[in-house]
Amino acid sequence: MKVAIASDHAGFRLKEQLKKTLDELALDYEDLGTFDETSVDYPDYGVKVAKGVADGTFDRGVLVCGTGLGMAITANKVKGVRAITAHDVFSARMSRMHNDANVLTMGERVIGEGVAADVLKVWLTTDFEGGRHARRLDKVHHIEQENL
Ligand code: RB5
Repeated sequence: MKVAIASDHAGFRLKEQLKKTLDELALDYEDLGTFDETSVDYPDYGVKVAKGVADGTFDRGVLVCGTGLGMAITANKVKGVRAITAHDVFSARMSRMHNDANVLTMGERVIGEGVAADVLKVWLTTDFEGGRHARRLDKVHHIEQENL
């Protein structure tokens, strides 16, 4: 599995921590920035990861900003992206089992690094259940085709 990770300045420190979790899981990942805490605009980084996931360069994307919210809004503007914000393990697991989420966003100002590491691990290791959930995602896909 190839993972793209990025953040804005407000998520930079948590992004650096989450890279250690990716290393622990021995996952192949690419850091698309930002590379320090100089103020930047989250959409510039969110779109890089979202496009990389949508075009198949990466299997999954991880985005961190202050709240996780701006990154989720941005990523969901790219066709094919199913971005969710998760700050707890249950939501992270369900977002994979039921929603086949391919981008995870988190907020450095919301979550501690220990919980964030657990959220990331569960999100990366839980499979989509398919079945009735695939039917529902087909409907989501149809809405996306009509509106994006
Ligand atoms: C930056 O101050 C902050 O607005 C950004 O990181 C993010 O939380 C936006 O959703």
